[in-house]
Amino acid sequence: MKIPFSRIDCSGNELSYVSEVLESGWLTTASKAARLEEKMAELTGTRHACAVNSCTAALHLALEALGIGPGDKVLVPTWTFTATAEVVRYLGADPVLLDVDSGTFSLTPETVEQALAENSHVKAVIVVHFGGQAAPVLDGTSEGIRRICERHGVWLVEDAAHALPASEKGIPVGAMGHVACFSFYANKTMTTGEGGMLVTNDPDVARRARIMRLHGIDRDVWARFSGVGGKWEYDVVAPGFKYNMPDINAAVGLAQLERLETMRSERQRCAEYYLEHLADLDCIELPVVRVRPDEHAWHLFPVVLKRNAPIERNRLIELLAADGIGTSIHYKPLHRMTYYSERYALDPSRFPNAEALWNGCLSLPIYSLLSNQELEYIVARLRSHLGC
Ligand SMILES: Cc1ncc(COP(=O)(O)O)c(C=O)c1O
Repeated sequence: MKIPFSRIDCSGNELSYVSEVLESGWLTTASKAARLEEKMAELTGTRHACAVNSCTAALHLALEALGIGPGDKVLVPTWTFTATAEVVRYLGADPVLLDVDSGTFSLTPETVEQALAENSHVKAVIVVHFGGQAAPVLDGTSEGIRRICERHGVWLVEDAAHALPASEKGIPVGAMGHVACFSFYANKTMTTGEGGMLVTNDPDVARRARIMRLHGIDRDVWARFSGVGGKWEYDVVAPGFKYNMPDINAAVGLAQLERLETMRSERQRCAEYYLEHLADLDCIELPVVRVRPDEHAWHLFPVVLKRNAPIERNRLIELLAADGIGTSIHYKPLHRMTYYSERYALDPSRFPNAEALWNGCLSLPIYSLLSNQELEYIVARLRSHLGC
């Protein structure tokens, strides 16, 4: 069998919506991107959505609109992709990397509270809803990260690259912080090839993001050409970026959105299969599910080999690859990456949980097109290699 780590599911109206764009003669940002923005605002229960060409761009725009700059610090989990932290550096500010919880791989209220007590000049916290599960942002039995941020007067930004659609107690990811950023990269739970979306309830952040996503021009290209009169006229009010989402990509996104919940529930089917059929193995840790399974986007299914596992993680990856099974690692933590480690003189001992996870973690295939027969094969091969 050949089971790739990820497979793209474009079995809906993707081709037909892209054809409409090609036939329209207007390939860049236009009505399809505007429609995708409306739909995303609706889905996340937010007032404003701004379509861009990546989640990285959305994160950059979010921090820029919040006024983050040199001398500021932003709290970021070490367990994430570099985009979450690099955008802080784009603006000349400094990311403060924090350890994560070993069961959910996400920041905890306690870690955030402690980091706020230990660091001055913190302007924002970026939470990552790792693997598709909401981070503990809302209050539970104790105060959540959102309330801690409010008490300290710092912005809460959601890196929701993995988490569409996801929610907790009925509150959608995207509406939990001040601004949220989604990724539509090829392997995400919804794709536009490359793409991203910023959502917020703050009209000032939305206005600034809209201007900065297109060269600091005070009017969208689409607004200039679809309206009547004054077509050519525009002003440049800031040195902005080139982050707008072309309509070809938005067309794919609109088709994906139509099947988003179906694709999510298929991922849940895979997760439930793994949870049930790997539960008795005492040499691996399964991910801790702290939200209702149907509120989880299930972008990733990470497992962690314990110390008593009979083989090492890298060897297991090789054996599974020989079986035709693709796996991946999420993540090599940022404090182990040369740039962050050297620039901020980071000692791995400050990140005990992430260090333990990093030694044993691997992500198993999980996607809507993964059949039950393939799941059975993955579990059988895994069990045979682990022999525990
Ligand atoms: C947690 C996280 N944040 C941000 C990004 C960046 O997303 P994009 O590729 O859309 O810029 C990724 C991409 O994988 C990610 O995993």
